[in-house]
Amino acid sequence: MRLPETQLAVLEAASATDERTVAQLADELGEDPVAVTRAVFELTDRGFVAVEETDAEELTLTEEGERYRGTGLPELRLVEAAAEAGADDAAVEMGELLGAAGLDGPEVDIALSNLARKGYGEIDSGSVALADDAAEGPDSDPEARALDSVAAGETGGLDPGVLDRLESRGLLERSETTVRRVTLTDEGVTALMGGIEATETVGAVTPELLTSGEWSSVEFTEYNVEADAGTVNGGKEHILRQTANRVKDVLVGMGFQEMEGPHADADFWINDCLFMPQDHPARTHWDRFALDVSPMAELPEDLMERVEDAHRDGVGADGDGYHSPWDEDFARAVALRGHTTSLSMRYLSGHAVGDLEPPQRYFSVEKVYRNDTLDPTHLLEFFQIEGWVMAEELSVRDLMGTFTEFYEQFGITDLEFKPHYNPYTEPSFELFGRHPETDELIEIGNSGIFREEVLSPLGVDCDVMAWGLALERLLMLMYGFEDIRDVHGTLCDLDLLRNVEVVY
Ligand code: PHE
Repeated sequence: MRLPETQLAVLEAASATDERTVAQLADELGEDPVAVTRAVFELTDRGFVAVEETDAEELTLTEEGERYRGTGLPELRLVEAAAEAGADDAAVEMGELLGAAGLDGPEVDIALSNLARKGYGEIDSGSVALADDAAEGPDSDPEARALDSVAAGETGGLDPGVLDRLESRGLLERSETTVRRVTLTDEGVTALMGGIEATETVGAVTPELLTSGEWSSVEFTEYNVEADAGTVNGGKEHILRQTANRVKDVLVGMGFQEMEGPHADADFWINDCLFMPQDHPARTHWDRFALDVSPMAELPEDLMERVEDAHRDGVGADGDGYHSPWDEDFARAVALRGHTTSLSMRYLSGHAVGDLEPPQRYFSVEKVYRNDTLDPTHLLEFFQIEGWVMAEELSVRDLMGTFTEFYEQFGITDLEFKPHYNPYTEPSFELFGRHPETDELIEIGNSGIFREEVLSPLGVDCDVMAWGLALERLLMLMYGFEDIRDVHGTLCDLDLLRNVEVVY
């Protein structure tokens, strides 16, 4: 009989009477435990070995835990220095002890709080007084002893309370592992007695094997697709990106086309076209990320004139403008867009893809930037689901129907609408959904029907309904996240990013 080398080695190292763990076998053979595990599974399939699996807790010292094994726990160093300075008789000034104990920085606090917790002494107005039995040294300190035991791999019988404490001090890490114990079966013994020859097998086809023609004579390792294997965490699309792509699919399915355009844009597109007066509070430096770049030179002159007119004098016979200042330089200044409605303006004006005839539907799922204060529901940047429908006759019912259809695709069926004010839409509605965990109503978007003062300068003479929805809030409703920072930025939980599947 012939077997691959590692399998044969494992078979020979295993015993019919004594269980050997995979770790022991790997140690003995000088092989990688992963390779030994694989060989063990293959031998199990052949019936040559039996495996018993138990779950076990693996304890490892953190870098800080290791360090204290060398230097001593900070509180014990303090006790030692204090004992030497006579603090078992009378309290000693802390300042005199720190140097002797080799303590500075965060270790001072660690030493003081643990000294008090363990009852080794008292700290009063900057002086340390030791308790009577404090100075017995590291041998009598359960935490110091446990650190040594863990380092030596002698973890049986350790007090779970002490381990909890070391873990909460960040000196110890616990993880679950599977321990596999291997024994030789009768068939394994018989096979060994019959004599087994080692074959060298090839694990993967390489370009060299192919070009040399050697591939036709080598023996390939058999794959066991059922074997347990370590998890390989490859790259994965971020949950936000996955959801953004779902949203795009849904909107394309609803007949929308995608818009694109600049993240840094002229205030003209971001605000002026939207009939936002230039002295509107949202246009001040408080909310806006102004960019120190040259003003945008290329803006459609005729459109700019019509927009300025609307701001100054209003639109229509009884229209009245803002009578507020309107300055071209201000319109040309460049900032990070605070909403993607700037894209809607570029498209509706005909500037992006030429004049559009109704009916039209457009969307974007893109980043926007606001100078907000970070909190569980606000970030300085987030993704906005922008969209608009252009048609001859549109009403609020069309708007509500579109949202109902859209959110239904994500399992959200309890939308609520609240009348709202935007300078650019009339009527306007804020959109709310109920958080699945907290049951709170959270704002998920803003919408409305564009005013004449917006559409007329753009040259649009039918109805346009539009919205901006927050992608992150949609995620909060879908998955029950309570903090937007769970899905954005560096505080994201890696397990979540690795395991979550976005469905709709
Ligand atoms: N721009 C709005 C916002 O960011 C959303 C919106 C877009 C509202 C279009 C109405 C029409 O909140």
